[in-house]
Amino acid sequence: MATLEIDGQEVQVEDGSTIIEATEKLGIYVPRYCYHPGMSIAGSCRMCMVEVENIPKLAIACYTPVNDGMKVSTSSEKVLKGRRDMLEFLLHNHPLDCPVCDQSGECDLQNFYMEHGRYQSRFLENKVKKRKAFPIGPHVVLDQERCILCTRCTRFTDEVSETHELGVFNRGDRSVIDLNPGKTLDNPYSGNVIDICPVGALTEREFRFQCRVWYLSSEESICPGCSNGCNISIHYNQRRAYKAGGRRLQRLKPRYHPQVNTWWMCDEGRFGYGFVDRHRFEFPMLRLQDELQYAEWEEALDKAAGVLKQAIDEHGPESVGVIASPRLSNEELYLTKKVFGQGLGIENIGFKNPWEKEGFCDDYLIKADKNPNTRGAEEMGFKGDVKQILEKAASGDIKVLYVFLHDLASEEARKLLDQAGTLIFHGSNRNSTSQRAQVVLASSVWAEKDGTFTNFEGRVQRFKAALQPLDESRRDIEILLDLAARMGQQLVYNNAGDLFMEWFGMTYEEMNPRGENIENRDGGSMPPPSGGSAGQQPSAN
Ligand code: SF4
Ligand code: SF4
Ligand code: FES
Repeated sequence: MATLEIDGQEVQVEDGSTIIEATEKLGIYVPRYCYHPGMSIAGSCRMCMVEVENIPKLAIACYTPVNDGMKVSTSSEKVLKGRRDMLEFLLHNHPLDCPVCDQSGECDLQNFYMEHGRYQSRFLENKVKKRKAFPIGPHVVLDQERCILCTRCTRFTDEVSETHELGVFNRGDRSVIDLNPGKTLDNPYSGNVIDICPVGALTEREFRFQCRVWYLSSEESICPGCSNGCNISIHYNQRRAYKAGGRRLQRLKPRYHPQVNTWWMCDEGRFGYGFVDRHRFEFPMLRLQDELQYAEWEEALDKAAGVLKQAIDEHGPESVGVIASPRLSNEELYLTKKVFGQGLGIENIGFKNPWEKEGFCDDYLIKADKNPNTRGAEEMGFKGDVKQILEKAASGDIKVLYVFLHDLASEEARKLLDQAGTLIFHGSNRNSTSQRAQVVLASSVWAEKDGTFTNFEGRVQRFKAALQPLDESRRDIEILLDLAARMGQQLVYNNAGDLFMEWFGMTYEEMNPRGENIENRDGGSMPPPSGGSAGQQPSAN
């Protein structure tokens, strides 16, 4: 270990650490452009200069190793002047597109300029012109004039995605970032270069000119795109009403998790949020004269509870089949088992679409299972055979099918569904299965609710509601509780947190922010829902 002093504060770090790592341990932020902890050190931007006692020149904090007894200043007059000079140099040929730049408001050129106060340009010559906004891949637009040549993007494609699409061309002030010959920036992780570009040189095609960043709010979430469970932030716009044509969810950004996704996320997850604001059920529906039509919640819930009760009264619980979903949260799965399994005695409960094909995967983040909570459903004891349930529905043994979210779109599934009796669809988006339903219970999407997913390795991770349920749609837990009440079950849970407490034995606040690993729990596995308490009983009044 080395002990050093930074800005008068003592800190101990591992031998071989750099000064910038030591400053971070103390919570001191040193401005940087080229340094990124997830990639090799370029040491090219010189923005991270600090003063080290007994070294005559300023040293770059990202590259200089610590020594025992070292004394460092990150904010002496000499350091501030050095940074000001570097900024002036970087801004020589910068186009100052701020009013029309998507990065404006979260741009480190703006931020450091404001912090270090160079308000008057001394540059009178004409600026070097370079190629303006042009697409370099399906998701990324490059503006060469805005680039400060930090090479974060080229190092990302060389070291992280290992796809080598980008390079630096030409020399001196003619240097530009561009695609290597014959390449397109279309690797499965291409969107990460937008995040790491410290200026507005690389921008997101989907987000360009959609919303100024200062209108965005942010909430912590988990990507629902596959079973890896990448930690993300949802950036949403709550100042423009949805009905005014604005998209509520504006973009997804990766959130650092050292074990799950570090700094990155894949493009499929990043750009796969279209279902949040498109093709949604905005209210419950009932089939009338062979057409799905608007219904009040009371009507739809009465109808759903009525057909379920009738089937069970007349033919027993084996006449109902439930197809839960690996896209439901643990809390919703727990309640589903409680309402349909424990409460109604239904045993035909499955969750996996047997016709669903495995998706693209790699040996990095992307998993073949495109559902966020398969492991959670398995841990919860869901194991019914969905194909068998559909066959029973087609043969008439099952009279009522209650399907969550699934699009059972394969030829075989469609044929079976066509022969099935009553279909209740509980879901957020329209699909081929919902088209066949007699009752639609319009539910919310993951961005509109609280809950947890268990990723492929058994890490239980929390996501938080960023948005309100769209229009008249409702959170799944509310729908299930209303339905249960109509069928004589008095379950009282005020929110997802109550269900989590009963199922997992802790509050959300008590959770490890990095996620709970179920393998590390006492006894090594989850308590099955049927073994839990019977839910909180309503108070007498
Ligand atoms: S990168 Fe964009 S926001 Fe930043 S200074 Fe340049 S033009 Fe302005
Ligand atoms: S495009 Fe952005 S990330 Fe790439 S070198 Fe230029 S400034 Fe850096
Ligand atoms: S951040 Fe250290 S030289 Fe660029």
